[in-house]
Amino acid sequence: MTVRKPTSADKFSFGLWTIGYSGADPFGTPTRDHLDVVDALEHLAELGAWGLSFHDDDLFAFGSTDAERRRQIDRLKQGLTDTGLVVPMITTNLFSQPVFKDGGFTSNDRSVRRFALRKVLRNLDLAAELGAKTFVMWGGREGAEYDAAKDIRAALERYREAVNLLGDYVTDKGYDIRFAIEPKPNEPRGDILLPTVGHALAFIQSLERPELVGLNPEVGHEQMAGLNFAAGIAQALYHGKLFHIDLNGQRGIKYDQDLVFAHGDLFNAFALVDLLENGRPGGGPVYEGPRHFDYKPSRTEDSAGVWASAAANMSNYLLLKERAAAFRADPEVKAALEAAKVTELSVQTLSAGEGWEGLLADKSSFEEFDSAAYFNGRGFGFVVLQQLATEHLLGAR
Ligand code: GCO
Ligand code: MN
Ligand code: MN
Repeated sequence: MTVRKPTSADKFSFGLWTIGYSGADPFGTPTRDHLDVVDALEHLAELGAWGLSFHDDDLFAFGSTDAERRRQIDRLKQGLTDTGLVVPMITTNLFSQPVFKDGGFTSNDRSVRRFALRKVLRNLDLAAELGAKTFVMWGGREGAEYDAAKDIRAALERYREAVNLLGDYVTDKGYDIRFAIEPKPNEPRGDILLPTVGHALAFIQSLERPELVGLNPEVGHEQMAGLNFAAGIAQALYHGKLFHIDLNGQRGIKYDQDLVFAHGDLFNAFALVDLLENGRPGGGPVYEGPRHFDYKPSRTEDSAGVWASAAANMSNYLLLKERAAAFRADPEVKAALEAAKVTELSVQTLSAGEGWEGLLADKSSFEEFDSAAYFNGRGFGFVVLQQLATEHLLGAR
């Protein structure tokens, strides 16, 4: 068993497709049996999780009759009542079926785009029925392998048209639902539209109802692009756009590994949990949404390994939360943050009421300023600070 067990107050949630991953990959067949949704709920409740998310096609197979769809929804609802779990987020599968081979919202084929929109509208009704407040949109097939195959500007315009329509729909229906776009640079498409947090943030500003749309960044996706995930999350928080998060582990720039959270870049996981839980060095704003795991139990594991890995995600998060709290409380760390002037960055560069005239008139800022003092002196002490973080992370303090 893992060393830390959560409670529902920790708001840990899992995708049904994560614990339900059968081990099938492009090179091999499944290594595990299908996982039923009621089984998933019971195991997650037992482990101390709080929520379950899913794609429409995870719960009822694509092409199900209305009766079969309803039967599965009712089984889920009964399972939620029995276990006390909630569904904080749902999402639509616009990537598995052949019809979506060139995408959903941005397929070159207009009739596919209309079909995709209908599939999403239907799923929004389900989100409302289940009380899910966040609707994730991961456009894994929205992209291309060949530059000549996709008019990127037209594709972005169709993406925008789609998200605007969804905004109209939830507004007209009075649904209390917000959208969270999940960026990813590639896989399954050679290149995916809205590949990073930054691209998606810019896109959101072009929408008719930008307030309804935020982000669902995933650890591994930003790291696949060589980016610093914790830094991207800080910017998403800065813009008020961190609506949801996909936690997992990734080791470097390669295929999407979906390892257990903290089994990849442990330093960045530490920085991330510190940011989510403690906010900036001076405090707030923190993240209050679901701590959602989008990982894959490795293909090598049997069902005991699946549940052990699910527990490991939550235990690792809680351990990092403890380590981050100790780091923040340590007087030596506080002194090192001061010495490194990390806190001074929050002081405005110009004095109150000062403009360019005041800056030009201030001789101490330029004419009398000793820039030479920065050679052979005035080191920032960032390495000492990082070593303190390392010692806390390793449990030495
Ligand atoms: C991936 C993505 C997906 C999405 C999911 C939610 O790389 O496959 O991370 O797992 O998170 O489809 O929309
Ligand atoms: Mn992923
Ligand atoms: Mn994801």
